[in-house]
Amino acid sequence: MTSTAITGIGELTTNDDELGTPGDAALVLDGDRIAWVGPAHRAPAADTSVDVGGRAVLPGWVDSHTHLLFAGDRTAEFTARTNGEPYAAGGIAVTVDATRAATDDELRATLRRHLAEAAWNGTTCVETKTGYGLTVADELRAARIAATEADDVTFLGAHLVPPGEDPDRYLDLVRGDMLDAVAPHVRWCDAFCERGAFDAEQTRRVLRAAADRGLGLRVHGNQLGPGPGVRLAVELGAASVDHCTHLEAEDIAALAGSGTVATLLPACDLSTRQPLPPARELLDAGATVALASNCNPGSSYTTSMAFCVTTAVLQMRMTVPEAIRAATLGGARALRRDTGDGAVGVLRPGARADLHVLDAPSASWLAYRPGVPLTHAVWRAGERVR
Ligand code: NIG
Repeated sequence: MTSTAITGIGELTTNDDELGTPGDAALVLDGDRIAWVGPAHRAPAADTSVDVGGRAVLPGWVDSHTHLLFAGDRTAEFTARTNGEPYAAGGIAVTVDATRAATDDELRATLRRHLAEAAWNGTTCVETKTGYGLTVADELRAARIAATEADDVTFLGAHLVPPGEDPDRYLDLVRGDMLDAVAPHVRWCDAFCERGAFDAEQTRRVLRAAADRGLGLRVHGNQLGPGPGVRLAVELGAASVDHCTHLEAEDIAALAGSGTVATLLPACDLSTRQPLPPARELLDAGATVALASNCNPGSSYTTSMAFCVTTAVLQMRMTVPEAIRAATLGGARALRRDTGDGAVGVLRPGARADLHVLDAPSASWLAYRPGVPLTHAVWRAGERVR
């Protein structure tokens, strides 16, 4: 194993409560782990050394919500929205048709292209979902392909009732044969709890069946209007409830008193012309907040976590440290990868060596210089990928 010392750090964000943001810091990577963090003058010897020239260093982005297993194009739907058409869950069916028609190689290539794009821009840990197959064979295929490429895979058979299918019959399929088929390949199960998709009782039935098979739970909730998704996620002990765009006071209180992360997807809200989520209220109440891209061809076609951070600071009243923490450690918490050996979203000895070096002296530049590409270098699991 080769060790690498990272020196010349201008500003270091560790997300570790004890290490904080040490000045004059250096890091040593050993294999795929961080071996040492501390004052540069005390750094142990390493095989090689990289001087980052006074630039800011932070953990790689943890994108805890994406839908990258898809085929087809929905530019026309997006353009219609820019002309005033509303976003509707039914658009998912367009991607389902294209995804079913694609070959395995096409799906894998699209997934890899988006993962490479994300890594180039500082994302080092990615969750992705099934949910554009919606038959046993197509969901299994998506789960298998995703499992070889992404850090975490989520089963989202409960994304939409395929057009023309009986909702009760489809739900039984999801909770039965589909879940049995995909369970060995995925870590999580999710359901889209929203008007036009699945109601609270249907969502509860799917997620209970998944929990019985040992899967962790996530929920798409409160995206297009107020609804039961957030409170259901808390009731079921889900790791995360994602979107959280339309929250009532009870939703915020429920999240604040729970271990369920509120995962906010601002690029999606902008693309679908929804209000931005109440990040300030969530943070002030004590909820754990994550930021994620929700990259998918319908509601949020971006892999850019920097864009999400910039938006969170400039338009959601988050501070820069809060937004960076939400896009790194918050995502890690949403994936239950924030502690222990190989943790992500944090720079401390034993964590995965996932580093993002900005072409800036301070991470504040992510909001101070909005829209300017600032990624200078990226290490993922100790390997330099940019
Ligand atoms: O998270 N909300 C449901 N699923 C996706 C959108 C999928 C689509 O429109 O294709 C989301 O926004």
